[in-house]
Amino acid sequence: MTEIRNIVILTGAGVSAESGIDTFRSEGGIWEQHRVEDVATPEAYARDPDLVLRFYDMRRAAIQTKVPNAAHLALARLEAAWPRHITVVTQNVDDLHERAGSQNVIHMHGEHLNAWCTTCDTRTRWTGTLADRPPCPACGSKTLRPDIVWFGEIPYRMDEIQAALARADLFVSIGTSGAVYPAAGFVRLARERGAHTLELNLDRSQGSAWFHETRLGRASEVVTAWVDDVLR
Ligand code: APR
Repeated sequence: MTEIRNIVILTGAGVSAESGIDTFRSEGGIWEQHRVEDVATPEAYARDPDLVLRFYDMRRAAIQTKVPNAAHLALARLEAAWPRHITVVTQNVDDLHERAGSQNVIHMHGEHLNAWCTTCDTRTRWTGTLADRPPCPACGSKTLRPDIVWFGEIPYRMDEIQAALARADLFVSIGTSGAVYPAAGFVRLARERGAHTLELNLDRSQGSAWFHETRLGRASEVVTAWVDDVLR
């Protein structure tokens, strides 16, 4: 392995599981409780906005009662101590990486704590509800939607992510099933550009074969142990 300078860390729902936030595809996960087509597509929102807004209001309220776990804290500790670039690209829409202290976080699938006005395109930090159709603080229109990338929409900040992957010496994927693209393809992009690739997960992801190395276990344990190794 070449000397590690720049690190890209991709996280998924598994990193927040031990904080009490449901994953999507585990037994009893969010996509067993709700159908994607009912709550997580632009078509669903056009058809039944009340249902979609209530679903996200519930999730936005829930994440605010949760706290970061040892895995989030370990990643923040690594970033604070690391002399070169660390980019955390997260598919998660909670704010637990930030609350743990991570600074360089890209929310490629959006954020629960933002509301997006489809009239004036302003994003506003939002902790309350949207189903009651509050006015946009910027333009007054009652057209705020969750700032969440739904299925069929394009993830955010892809140019920055591609650039970070291209200069990564180490790519680490944590707590994601590898079921959703483009995130599931990042391991291949990083590997093609010469990065060492490491998977930390409870179970092997769908793209597990693309990783040079896999360490299985709960994020609170495997991520903490890996950060200790890197900083030793
Ligand atoms: N520690 C580590 N990994 C865990 C833990 C844990 N405590 N608990 C579960 N996992 C792993 C599971 O084994 C699984 O591989 O986390 C992964 C969660 O997978 P998904 O539920 O599919 O979540 P994710 O990969 O983040 O989903 C990607 O799908 O619906 C969309 O937009 C949503 O961003 C999400 C995307």
